[in-house]
Amino acid sequence: MSTARGEFSSRFGFLMAATGSAVGLGNIWGFPTNAASNGGAAFLFTYIILAFVLAYPALMAELIIGRHAKANAVNALRGLSTSPAIARVGAGVGFAGMITVTLILSFYAIISGWMLAYMFASMADIARLESASNWLTQSGTTRDAVFAGIFYLLTIYIVVAGVRNGIEKWSSRLMPSLYLILIILIVYVLTLDGAMEGLRMYLVPDFSRVADPQLILSAMGQAFFSLSLGVGTMLIYGSYVSKQENLPAIGGMVTVMDMSVAVLAGLLILPAMSVAQLNGIQIYDDQGALIAGPALITSVLPALFDQMGDGGILVALAFFALMSIAALTSSISMLEVPVSYFVEDQGVSRRKAVILLGVLAASVSMLIIWNFGLLFDWVVRLTTEFSQPLLGFFFAIFAGWVWNRNALLAEIKQGHADVESGLFWRIWPWYIKFVCPLIILAVYIQLII
Ligand code: PHE
Repeated sequence: MSTARGEFSSRFGFLMAATGSAVGLGNIWGFPTNAASNGGAAFLFTYIILAFVLAYPALMAELIIGRHAKANAVNALRGLSTSPAIARVGAGVGFAGMITVTLILSFYAIISGWMLAYMFASMADIARLESASNWLTQSGTTRDAVFAGIFYLLTIYIVVAGVRNGIEKWSSRLMPSLYLILIILIVYVLTLDGAMEGLRMYLVPDFSRVADPQLILSAMGQAFFSLSLGVGTMLIYGSYVSKQENLPAIGGMVTVMDMSVAVLAGLLILPAMSVAQLNGIQIYDDQGALIAGPALITSVLPALFDQMGDGGILVALAFFALMSIAALTSSISMLEVPVSYFVEDQGVSRRKAVILLGVLAASVSMLIIWNFGLLFDWVVRLTTEFSQPLLGFFFAIFAGWVWNRNALLAEIKQGHADVESGLFWRIWPWYIKFVCPLIILAVYIQLII
């Protein structure tokens, strides 16, 4: 417990790490396809509203608790509690977050492994190694296991190096390249024939869907997943932020950057799908639903890149590099959650904690790979639609009800002396107390009814 805690070296470092965590497969793949299958701009609209009225305040709860406690979620929530019983609930929420995030990592690493495999396949195409490229793009348990394994090694390599020399350094290197690749790809795809149809699918709302409980649940799950909420990731990143920083402002920047990448990714994926359709590639399944699951990334888009000839190989390389970068800056933030607990609370060395927990998550991934049909969807839905919002509910309760109000206000003031004249000060404390928990409950109740 005596180990010195890590801290981000600058505001830029924190922003890159936190947006690195937030921006991931959830933005570039999950958001656009969710939007396309849920009424286009109706989903976009619901999502943007939820991001501001629910996800941003929930993000702030985690950042503020984290920076105040300078500890992992288990110890932080325990420390806010006023009675032993509540302290036990707090620790329980922290543990549930650790288990949830480890499960998220276990399915995330499988998809990320596909992204790496396809990236290597494009390199093999450039080198004209046809059989290697075929193996890399053919689904199979061995390939999945090998590339999920490689993805874990990269994640472990970065997290072992610590907060500054690992997470911050690599996020600061990778995130700017992610933005650059994304913009280049969008500009390119929008110039192709057929792209406008995809834009229409994305931007023209089917408002009859706005009140659909399933749409609202998906948008809420998407918002929580996208901002890495409920599992203690943002809490632990908040705990590495210096007391001189203005938290409401930097939390706002993270939210806006995360949302903008999701919205931008829609401008890439949906036009690409309609271009594919114009070229005779099937983008609707036999039931007439848009192909949005794994097949989108592993068959629809690759088929499109194939048709583009030699140039398509470079587009494919850029696209799968983009996906791999997005995935890696998120996976390191997932692994950091249990690692920080074992380092701070159990006195395990960082290296040992990272390797042990990495191997544990990898074992769960292998279990899923070998029982894919049975487990994959189930784990995704359990963690993202159920656990994350539910745990977010508890974080709001701890920030709004359990934590001493004066201590909470004092923490908000740190690094932001004139906060009392702003909106955040007037609205957020009661908002996190009443509105956030109620919205989450309302979504669940509506679904049950
Ligand atoms: N926010 C990440 C994404 O959009 C996923 C994530 C979830 C990261 C939970 C950390 C914790 O892909």
